[in-house]
Amino acid sequence: MPGWRAERMERRATAGSSAVKMNKAKTPTTTVADIARPVAEGPRGFAFTTEFWERFVERHWEKTPLLIKQPFAAQLLSASELFAALAQASEQYRAEGRQLRPPYDRGAKLRFCIEHSVLMTDVEKRLPEAGDESLESYARRIEPLLAGREFELIINQLQSYSFEMWARLREFLRGLYERVGIPAENADAAIFIRNQKRTGFGLHKDKAGVFMFVLKGRKRMLLWPYETFSAKEEIVSTLDYGEFLDRALVLEGQPGDVIYWPSTYWHIGESDGDLSASVSVGLRLNYAPFADVIKHVTHMVERQLGASGRADLYRFEPARLQQTAAELPPRLDAAIRAVREAGCDQSLEQTLKLGWLNRVTGYGFASVPAPRPPRTLADDEIVCGQPEYPVVCVPLNEDRWACSANGHSFTTPTTHHLPLLIDSLNTGIPRRAGSLLAEFATTTETGDRELLRHVLEKLHSLRAVELITSKEPARSS
Ligand SMILES: [Fe+2]
Repeated sequence: MPGWRAERMERRATAGSSAVKMNKAKTPTTTVADIARPVAEGPRGFAFTTEFWERFVERHWEKTPLLIKQPFAAQLLSASELFAALAQASEQYRAEGRQLRPPYDRGAKLRFCIEHSVLMTDVEKRLPEAGDESLESYARRIEPLLAGREFELIINQLQSYSFEMWARLREFLRGLYERVGIPAENADAAIFIRNQKRTGFGLHKDKAGVFMFVLKGRKRMLLWPYETFSAKEEIVSTLDYGEFLDRALVLEGQPGDVIYWPSTYWHIGESDGDLSASVSVGLRLNYAPFADVIKHVTHMVERQLGASGRADLYRFEPARLQQTAAELPPRLDAAIRAVREAGCDQSLEQTLKLGWLNRVTGYGFASVPAPRPPRTLADDEIVCGQPEYPVVCVPLNEDRWACSANGHSFTTPTTHHLPLLIDSLNTGIPRRAGSLLAEFATTTETGDRELLRHVLEKLHSLRAVELITSKEPARSS
């Protein structure tokens, strides 16, 4: 493994740098931007050094923006990976449309905007198709359909369509998480593709610290501290911010650069109108954890009540209004009882525990790449776990254990051999599947061996266990 190269950070006190430019409409009086030039390494080339993150947390995290110049040897997504993720997200959107879900209610979290308006009809026709083959040829196909109007395609949770991208972000965020923790709401990698000159929803602020990875074209972020617009509600979602340009910090990123801004900063992106693409990794903060509890209680109550959980009309007697008001409608009363029961149900805590396991192994991303298709493992195949990203395994209740890897969890009947198997995999030492199972399964119980084999195959499907195809000898016992 190559050695780490110490990063260099520079403080520039004027707008003279080619990387830091001010908006042309007005000349700012002053600006100060920190620019970092770290070199990332790690197995995927996206890990920063301890020194970088320590300095970052001290100077920038939730404090001030930062432009990080060309830290990686490769882009977060190659051109072909980017297009594959876009095509997959678009296909999911089309599939959900076939289930009669309107544009604003589809899990793909995809928005197509034309001149700052969200398109509500025939969105599918404007999305990438597998036949486009590249981002550029997709843009060439749809531009005539828009008759010269600017567009912007926004897809949230893009990480769920590319395991490699999610794994690179996991490597990137690891050092930061170690110091500040994982976001209480979630992490979300949203892609913005546009020839529109400014962010679709105008000047705004998110409840998220953001790392923006520029993939294509130039992105110029105009940033203002929270205080600039406090008590100026009219500024939200506006494009009319000209009078504040002289107070903006402007960071311009080229492909390969990363721009960070804290959750407190107001911002808008500008570009020159050429096709551009960037991924904004938002770490969503300032969250109400009870929302997670309520979400699960809602599912439990819906399951318990079924059709009787719905109501069309309640009895209403104008002539006996006192009596009508004095008694709760039976279905509302039933709903209250169901919520009470769900709140006391042990399975609520267990569901939240499983969610927490997934949050931990998913590195804060609520939506993670799907598992690969399950596959039978032969006894002589060599398997290997990942010590840096271990499988976690905890008792769920008296009867079951819960395992989680790469943001997915599953449960198994309790057996004391399971944690031993997981510990062995987590060492990262390659082993033949047969000898591993023989070592940890009891010889007297066939079911135990089958259970552990099932766990091993499940972990392979979750990409927590990889097959070693080299001819190098693996430990056989
Ligand atoms: Fe934003």
